Amino acid sequence: MKELFLGLYATRVYLPFSSFSRRWRRVSRRIRGKQTGSLQATRLPEVCWTHCVEVSVPRIWEHKKENGNVRISELAILSAFAASCREGSTLFEIGTFDGRTTLNLALNAPATCRICTLDLPPDQATKYPLAGGERHMVEKSAPGSRYEQYRSRLPAAISRIHQLLGDSATFDYSRYNGSCSLVFVDGSHAYDYALSDTRAAMTIGEAGGIIVWHDYGIWEGVTNALDELEQREHFGFRNIRGTSLVIWTKK
Ligand SMILES: C[S@@+](CC[C@H](N)C(=O)[O-])C[C@H]1O[C@@H](n2cnc3c(N)ncnc32)[C@H](O)[C@@H]1O
Repeated sequence: MKELFLGLYATRVYLPFSSFSRRWRRVSRRIRGKQTGSLQATRLPEVCWTHCVEVSVPRIWEHKKENGNVRISELAILSAFAASCREGSTLFEIGTFDGRTTLNLALNAPATCRICTLDLPPDQATKYPLAGGERHMVEKSAPGSRYEQYRSRLPAAISRIHQLLGDSATFDYSRYNGSCSLVFVDGSHAYDYALSDTRAAMTIGEAGGIIVWHDYGIWEGVTNALDELEQREHFGFRNIRGTSLVIWTKK
């Protein structure tokens, strides 16, 4: 009951208000000729989340946002995508952090789905330099602490989560090729990682599957990578209105 209420709040109250406030901040800064603070100018066309997925009220667990998590509205939209995933398919997340999104994907997706989530061990060398200011999300004793708390209470759901460890730029994705109904790209925010994680996500996504990126308009590396790719390749990336999520459906 509480989880449904939180889903309702996130999509019907928080999202419209945060959408308005984000728009207002951008417009007022543009009028004053100022840089948009932590927000970058965005170029991708916007789409309303209700046009991307059958509208439902997703259920939300672990509503408290830590520094590094998605917003509650973004969590709700990702959960709605998870709920509409194909039975028996794989959902893949690049960048586990504390596993708050992983948990919500697992609890909203059909019970026949598995959730794979990849994270970088703190002592592993990386192929590319990480972005400045993101090391604190890597430095943790283990990824997924928030879904681990639910293992004894909801063992069946948590057992569908497969924690993978490695550098997303060198990880061997071959066994997932063309098989994922949802890929959530939320690893390193460095430009080179945004590009290489995008390539990987597009390869492991299944036909009709969706790829979602986080932090568009927030982290420069992600914003530039997605804008440049769209300008060059015309993939049809769309920024979900009122969020930093970008969505693309694989043909
Ligand atoms: C923004 S956090 C992810 C947040 C999480 N998806 C959520 O919704 O709560 C980024 C995560 O990506 C991981 N990461 C950073 N660089 C990575 C890399 N090269 N390969 C795999 N994971 C990486 C970090 O360890 C961190 O846990």
